[in-house]
Amino acid sequence: MATIISFVSQKGGVGKTTSAINLATAFAFGGYSVLMVDLDPQSSIRFSMGVQNNVSRGTQELFLDPEMPMSDLIQETGQENMEFIFSNVETLENERAVLEIGANATHLLERINEVSDQYDFIVIDAPSSTNNMAINAIYASDLIILPLQCENLAIKSLKRFLRSFNELKSIFPNKDLRLAGILLTMFDRKLEIHRRIGQQIYKALSDSVFETIIPRNEAIVESSALGKSVITYNLSTIGATAYIRLMNELVDKFDLR
Ligand SMILES: Nc1ncnc2c1ncn2[C@@H]1O[C@H](COP(=O)(O)OP(=O)(O)OP(=O)(O)O)[C@@H](O)[C@H]1O
Ligand SMILES: [Mg+2]
Repeated sequence: MATIISFVSQKGGVGKTTSAINLATAFAFGGYSVLMVDLDPQSSIRFSMGVQNNVSRGTQELFLDPEMPMSDLIQETGQENMEFIFSNVETLENERAVLEIGANATHLLERINEVSDQYDFIVIDAPSSTNNMAINAIYASDLIILPLQCENLAIKSLKRFLRSFNELKSIFPNKDLRLAGILLTMFDRKLEIHRRIGQQIYKALSDSVFETIIPRNEAIVESSALGKSVITYNLSTIGATAYIRLMNELVDKFDLR
């Protein structure tokens, strides 16, 4: 059975998609087989992987067409060890229908279970929300990663996340929801505010914060614009090495080998 990892945050633009793609690529690079699932209707994973054309089968069918086997929704992009279920929810009407089915928090996990034994890791990119999609992602996961940018509202959004997370734990007492860690992203050590907020977070929650910090790195922006992960774009950049380090930390911390 695959280990299912999702990137969640109620706050937008914190590096969920970037981190999901690069952690998944790091796993694939390390020889693990990976399925990426994009639950965000923005379809960012598809664009970040350079897939321009619309996909006819994806998360829409995952939610709205339970008769269609999961294996029919899986796409390849030529990347070794990596497969994808892209988001293809285009209209508001379909988005509403998908969210309605998603009111059953176990839906995604039940669907993933159809293919889970074919992969080592399943990495889910969730929308910036606590909507039914995000809850499906959290429910499906063995491990949850919260990307966080060390800016003014970071502590507030962290507290809000921890409150929501504890609430979900009490709603699903039979499910062992596990926070793998808080991942500091786009970190710029030259900025006093990043250093200060980073220190505050480590002081308050040290065990729950990854030692690996993702630096602000131009190569990450460039690679995304070219439809690639930073790891396939240029392995010698500080962005790529940070994500490889994150993979190693995660594998060690949770004994995932
Ligand atoms: N380490 C980094 N260095 C520089 N830029 C980064 C880094 N990580 C992410 N970015 C850029 O920051 C922006 C937001 O990142 P990303 O899309 O991964 O966040 P998100 O949390 O998925 O956003 P959304 O809430 O819209 O889904 C993107 O333009 C991305 O290229
Ligand atoms: Mg995103």
